[in-house]
Amino acid sequence: MRPHEHIILPLDVPTVQRAIELVDLLKDDVGVFKVGLELTNATGLETLALLRQAGADRIFYDAKLHDIPNTVAGAMRGIVRQRAWCVTVHTLGGKNMLKAAVDAAKQEAEERGLPRPLVLGVTVLTSISENELHNELKVPTSISVQSYATHLARLAFEAGCDGVIASPHEIQAIRAAIPSSDFLIITPGIRPAGSTRGDQARVHTPAEAMVRGASYLVIGRPIYAAEDPKAAAQNIAHEIEGAWDLV
Ligand code: C5P
Repeated sequence: MRPHEHIILPLDVPTVQRAIELVDLLKDDVGVFKVGLELTNATGLETLALLRQAGADRIFYDAKLHDIPNTVAGAMRGIVRQRAWCVTVHTLGGKNMLKAAVDAAKQEAEERGLPRPLVLGVTVLTSISENELHNELKVPTSISVQSYATHLARLAFEAGCDGVIASPHEIQAIRAAIPSSDFLIITPGIRPAGSTRGDQARVHTPAEAMVRGASYLVIGRPIYAAEDPKAAAQNIAHEIEGAWDLV
């Protein structure tokens, strides 16, 4: 993989028009475009086709599916037909639900002759604090957010998921727990040296995250809010390339 292919750009913008502009501008400088619930609920799932036409070859659909297995399987079949490169599901839906998602992605892709999307598990949302985990969600206090996230990553692996979304802080624990170097770890919370954090409380640089074992980096505002987004993406790709010498 070339360095820029590790960059996932979230299209956190309110209109399809603006999302298409970003795809057009950055399609040669990032590897993947991420579309989330905000954009698809405002504009419909057909947005994925429009972005593909604009040049987004790989679309990460952050669907965060979480329902009974039969419903998740049905949703996954629809998503396969939209040709997403990757789809997220909540690991808290349990192993049967995760397996249903993976099986539906395989079956629908095979039946339609389409590529199978990667299925990625969301572990503990980084918005959940230790306090919420223990006092609201009643996870025993002996289990930290990090060990819970690692446990959920193992569940995703056992269910056949291709990887997980995780905080850069959790990468090493997850790598140590999963007996496959092919298991993907995709991480947000990345800020190149010198850029502003925005609302991300705990951040890592692209090089740090790659050295820790990340497969892909979700990087938004440092690219699309930069004065020169192309140059910003190219600088990050350069930093990723430099990180390989450190591994
Ligand atoms: O602009 P920024 O680089 O902070 O964007 C990060 C992206 O990753 C956003 O789309 C955000 O919703 C997403 N994300 C995150 N933290 C998580 C999960 C997803 O920042 N734990």
